[in-house]
Order: sequence, then structure tokens, then C-alpha cells
Amino acid sequence: MKTILDAPFLTEMRKTTANMYRLGWDERNGGNISCLLDENEATEFLDVNHVIREIPIGFEAQPLAGKIFIVTGTGKYFKNVEGDPENNLGIIKIAPDGQTAQLLWGYKDGGKFTSELPAHLMSHMARLSVDPQNRVVMHCHPTHTLAMNFVHELDEKKFTHTLWEMCTECIVVFPDGIGVLPWMLCGTNEIGEATAEKMREFRLVVWGMHGIYGAGKTLDETFGLIETVEKAAQIYMLTAHLPRINTIKDSEMKKLAEFFGVDYRKDFLD
Ligand code: 13P
Ligand code: ZN
Repeated sequence: MKTILDAPFLTEMRKTTANMYRLGWDERNGGNISCLLDENEATEFLDVNHVIREIPIGFEAQPLAGKIFIVTGTGKYFKNVEGDPENNLGIIKIAPDGQTAQLLWGYKDGGKFTSELPAHLMSHMARLSVDPQNRVVMHCHPTHTLAMNFVHELDEKKFTHTLWEMCTECIVVFPDGIGVLPWMLCGTNEIGEATAEKMREFRLVVWGMHGIYGAGKTLDETFGLIETVEKAAQIYMLTAHLPRINTIKDSEMKKLAEFFGVDYRKDFLD
């Protein structure tokens, strides 16, 4: 009999959270992940009709009724997920009313899903409406990206353009650019709605002076998006105070985007 601990999606969550912690993106309980599971895959490892308890989600997520997600727990430390997944993660199914999460596994110590569930589920709805393959929403506090928030204008075009200039691959990895929100109170439906609005247009959204959200088809893809932003932000922070001698020009970024056949935000070039 297969147990949940054999599930590839659980192994991947454990490895991803450990990696994010190792990179310093998730101090203490910082950051959260939600991943939409394929129902057939989930059924291989657990009884999806056995509800341990019900938890109100505090908003309406009707379009996601019946969908199953693995979600990090609120207040839980990423550093502990790998060794103790059953306390730090949970698997929830959205009930037919769209307002209740049915716990199928995890949050063993009586815990619950991340306080950022509004931003996660609303972002899933937004991304699925433009990309039916989207499965993952990831939030974290990467150091250099966050540092850059304090010294760079929080303007979508300018922020994206600066990052595109920092690594040759950037325009190819995130040609759709980065959405930027001002500082807002986290854990609320309001920041969830604002994030989801940006997610219709972008797979990356900066939360001003807080962190970043990424969305993608897999944990790897989403991790890679944030990793690329963070690398570019690190190069920016290492060089911003020094005289700039060389730069990747707009004409070169255009060449890259055309060569790799990506549909980039042309209005984000000068
Ligand atoms: P949670 O512990 O509720 O997931 O919150 C962490 C966080 O990063 C808030 O933005
Ligand atoms: Zn956060």
C-alpha cells in the first residue's frame, strides 16, 4: 500500500521548501506555497473523500470547488517541512460551497493553511483563467529582491527593465515582466485581490517591501522564475552603487527575445 510519504508531489514540496530555506528566502515562517494536485494522482495516495476537519477559508473560491491543493501551514517554518511534513503541510479540498477547506491530510498539530490563502487561491483562479496548465503559487522573501525594493523605484516597467539588464537570460525567463504592488497589509483579502489582478498579466508579482509571488506549471518552473529574479537583484545590489561601465542594451535584449522566440513586454523596453 502506497502511503502519502511516497507521493512525488510531497517529496517535491519537501525538497523545494528545504532549498528555499537554504537560499535564505524563507526566514522563520516567511513564505508559503500552494500546489494544485491532479485528482487521480492524489487518489493514489489518500482517500480524497475522507475529511479530517473543515476550515472556513474566509472568502469565495467557487471556481475552485472540488480542487485539491497541498499548502504550507501558517506559522510553520520552511526549515522544518522536510523533516516533519505532516505538521507543516496540509492537503485540502475546496468544498462545493467554495468557502470551506476540507482537510484531507496534514496540519496534524491542529494548525491550518497559510494566512496568505486569499492571495494563493485568488492567484490560482487568475492564472488558470489565462493558463489552464498553471499549478503552483509560491511566495517568499528573497534577500536581494527585497533589498532592491528599498533603493529602486517600485514601478513595473522600471523594475522589470533594471532586472532584464542584469542577466542575459532574464528577458527570456520572464518576458512577461514583473507586476509590482505597493506595500500593503499582508494576510488580507485585499492584498489577495490586488495580487490576483496582477497575476492575470504577470507570473511574478513583487509585494513592495515584503517579498515576491511567482506562479507556474510546476514547482521547478516557479522556483526557477524567482531564482532568476533574485540572481538579477543580487547583481543589481552588488553594482548599483558603482559607476556603470557596461550594460546589456535594449537592442540586445530585443535580439535575445526574438532569437528565443518569447513574447516579451515590448512597452517595457525604452
Ligand atoms: P504564513 O506563516 O501564514 O504562511 O505567513 C508567512 C508570510 O510570509 C506572510 O506573508
Ligand atoms: Zn510573506
